[in-house]
Amino acid sequence: MLKIKGNYFILETKNTSLVIKSQETFAEYLYYGPKLSDYTGLELLAPEDYGWTAPRLVFAQWGYNDFREPSVHVRFQDGSDKTDFRFHKGKIVARETPKELPYSYGEDKCLKLEFVDATAKLKLTLCYTAYYDSDVITSYATLHNSAKKSVYIENLASLCFETWGKDFNFITFDGAWGSERQKHVRPIGTLGKCVNESFTGSSSPMHNPFVMLERTGEVYAFNLVYSGNHREVCDGDEYNRTRMITGINPFSFNWELAPAQDFNTPEAVMAYAPTQEEVSLRMHRFVSEHIIRGKWKKKERPVLVNNWEGTYFDFTKDKILAIAQTAANVGAELFVLDDGWFGKRDDDFRSLGDWVDHVEKTGGIDKLADSIRAMGLKFGIWVEPEMVNEDSDLYRKHPEYAMKIPRREPTRMRNQIMLNLADPQVQGYVYRAIARVIETCKAQYIKWDYNRHMTDCYDRSTRGGEYYHRYIMGLYAVLEKLTARFPNVLFESCASGGCRFDLGMLCYMPQTWTSDNSDARERIAIQSGTAHAYPQNTMGAHVSACPNHQTGNTNSLEARFRVACGGVLGYECDLTKMTEEELAQITEQIEFYKKYRTALQFGEYHRLGNAFGGEVCGYISVAQNQETAVAVVTVLHKRTGIFNYRMAFTGLDDNAQYRVLERGAKGGLKEICVASGSLLNRGAIRLQDILSETDARENSNPIYTKMYVFERVSGKKSR
Ligand code: DGJ
Repeated sequence: MLKIKGNYFILETKNTSLVIKSQETFAEYLYYGPKLSDYTGLELLAPEDYGWTAPRLVFAQWGYNDFREPSVHVRFQDGSDKTDFRFHKGKIVARETPKELPYSYGEDKCLKLEFVDATAKLKLTLCYTAYYDSDVITSYATLHNSAKKSVYIENLASLCFETWGKDFNFITFDGAWGSERQKHVRPIGTLGKCVNESFTGSSSPMHNPFVMLERTGEVYAFNLVYSGNHREVCDGDEYNRTRMITGINPFSFNWELAPAQDFNTPEAVMAYAPTQEEVSLRMHRFVSEHIIRGKWKKKERPVLVNNWEGTYFDFTKDKILAIAQTAANVGAELFVLDDGWFGKRDDDFRSLGDWVDHVEKTGGIDKLADSIRAMGLKFGIWVEPEMVNEDSDLYRKHPEYAMKIPRREPTRMRNQIMLNLADPQVQGYVYRAIARVIETCKAQYIKWDYNRHMTDCYDRSTRGGEYYHRYIMGLYAVLEKLTARFPNVLFESCASGGCRFDLGMLCYMPQTWTSDNSDARERIAIQSGTAHAYPQNTMGAHVSACPNHQTGNTNSLEARFRVACGGVLGYECDLTKMTEEELAQITEQIEFYKKYRTALQFGEYHRLGNAFGGEVCGYISVAQNQETAVAVVTVLHKRTGIFNYRMAFTGLDDNAQYRVLERGAKGGLKEICVASGSLLNRGAIRLQDILSETDARENSNPIYTKMYVFERVSGKKSR
């Protein structure tokens, strides 16, 4: 809901209010917090002193006595960099988002605040949208040049937000390949300034664009609808304010804004809530309603079997058919043929770029796909379209398509270099090549991989400082066309696992392979960290073989399943090597998953306990109607002499009673009691025998899990 009252601009969501006040020259945040029922007396929120240093600014420009991180920084042709944007007008208008980047959708109005630098003939527009249902507010900026000369944008953030106080923790989700999105907490009070940013050309496994500011009883969360280099800065100042800026990373960014042109930033997303739990639910609702689009929005995702960890490159047509047949027998719904099906791809040194059949291996992907479909499965296929190997027909024919700097040796990662997607001709090639693959095998699912970081950025017709952003725009242009042409295909984003898990990719691909690390123990922290910002239906989670290929850890098939139920379930192993007993167990697991799939994939997801070093942790996924819920709790470390593991659940209907069922070590459900939702939500519920499922003396240090199902037996529905 958007309102203008004189020079006050009010954005309301179901539970929050944001108030901005325009002054003669600038505009400031007056309030962002729990929803106000009456706005009388807003002047009490204004600062005492209206020098440039005191208000909480909606953007921060360079050249005044504000020496913190600017959100707008423009360089002119005479070398100067001072701008003088002054408030011009604010209006509520129909929301029409720019075409070159993905934006959220589902609201038809937005608030536009315009600021003009009359001397430079530049107009800065901030566009705010309030998503009432999900309690999220978004913002992006547009700079328009009405002058006769180009200007150079050195930084234009998507959002600048300021609030009083410096008593915040800055919470980020950092890591590496195989240990993505680990939660880290830094107090900003003493540090003054904290930065979270990526330089990889992608959103990166090192620092996800999702960050939070937290202090007692208040959490502000921020994210970015963008897949490239990003930067989030929180900057506390001597006036006891904290500024939060989020947007494209200004590192190696310099955009020429020619006369009459606009530059639009990606969209930033912010939410306010009293707890981290609540802020996650708001972000999840926003992603499900306003980011994920198309046929797969809120549609149950198939249980898949992928051959990668089962075969790697070493497979034959018969091997694939045998795995697929076993997949069909155990009740899987989709078979995914991973890397190695094209060109001469028997290892990772060659053929990226040659998206044609490796016929000796596949017998023809069209026929292979048909045979797999005849088993009652959907067929999906792996591609890595943004890359090329030098040993490929594509590179031999079109070396100019590669991302390379003339006369310099390119940096190779995983033996591959990147394609120059900043070039429309290369975009065209990638689009046609992947469309041909989809059409040839009538793929119903595409796993879109991306297995290196970006270096050697160069395109002869792109200015250096524009390269990273133009690459991302090129990628989005290809994805826009492909997803429009193949609306029924389920796309899963993958970047060596979860190295590009962001809202930009989710606009095109409703799920992401969360991590190449499929070890159940490791996955608990990875999935728990990811779930702070992204709902469980966006997280691919597979059961793989043991000892685990990444860590060497061994866990029971049931424990691996329980952890994988925290996302979109798949199996990634050679099913033909499983025993009859294991296959029977998997059949039962898939049946169970399908029965509770709505709750597991689309329920409200709450983290339980403390996944980052606590004794007991886990998750509960509560169906939207609170009729059923599934919980998994885990003890990560067996400790001698520690008993009485206990856990409060959460998200169940306080006014209902639930039948509590416990899943057995090899499947099956046993009723343990009937209990009230309010008690289950608050009590320290005992987790009987959590350590006795496996031999207490075994020494592989597995994780110990319990899985519960809650089914409403009485109490009227409160939602
Ligand atoms: C990295 C992915 O994350 C894996 O799942 C697999 O698809 C390999 N690439 C294939 O090269």
